Amino acid sequence: MTSEFKLAPSILSADFADLKSALTQCESGGAHWIHIDVMDNQFVPNLTIGPPVVKSLRSKTNKFFDVHMMVIDPENLVEPFAKAGADMISFHVEATNDIQSVIDLIKATGTQVGLSIKPSTELSSIEPYYDQLDLILVMSVEPGFGGQGYIKSSTERVVKIKKRLTELCLQDQVLIEVDGGIKLHNAKEVIDAGADVLVAGSAVFGTSDPVQTIKDFYNLSN
Ligand code: DX5
Ligand code: ZN
Repeated sequence: MTSEFKLAPSILSADFADLKSALTQCESGGAHWIHIDVMDNQFVPNLTIGPPVVKSLRSKTNKFFDVHMMVIDPENLVEPFAKAGADMISFHVEATNDIQSVIDLIKATGTQVGLSIKPSTELSSIEPYYDQLDLILVMSVEPGFGGQGYIKSSTERVVKIKKRLTELCLQDQVLIEVDGGIKLHNAKEVIDAGADVLVAGSAVFGTSDPVQTIKDFYNLSN
């Protein structure tokens, strides 16, 4: 039996000339969250969405905006994204030397806070912050691009994080989100490992029927 989870379709794989339709598809399929990938061409070799785009999208839907910042010096963008309408702002543990300040900054805006970790970064780098987080974003591909294959060892990392959160009695407080290479065929494995939120970009928007695909993800838990 697969427990309840949230699906966060990533609009990175949607048609950037028609993001409004992507939001409508997420609503029609019943997706919980919208995952918005922010890339600065420095932390990752790609350039995507900034606060003005998020602000425009904000006026089109009430869905929860899950902003994944893949940027260096994330503190500079916290307030602009919060003002643009982010509900959750996640940043990378590898992107700053002052993790605590960025957490504090995000909390001060009233936005939920997530800490993201690349596939080869030691889990010990995020552990000291677990009790301050709303979400741990576990990257299951190298950040930067949609459409990559799921890194198998990510499943074990999710198990370890869930175990540690449970030991700390934080398992109901801190969500685990898994991002990269999630498809219908591996989603159950990741949920069973302990994921609460699944990001799916190409699996949703790379299909001819994104609405049905979102429903198919949720049907996995039936
Ligand atoms: C990659 C992004 C992901 C990406 C996932 O750096 O963080 O959110 O959109 O895309 P898929 O689901 O295609 O791997
Ligand atoms: Zn992402």
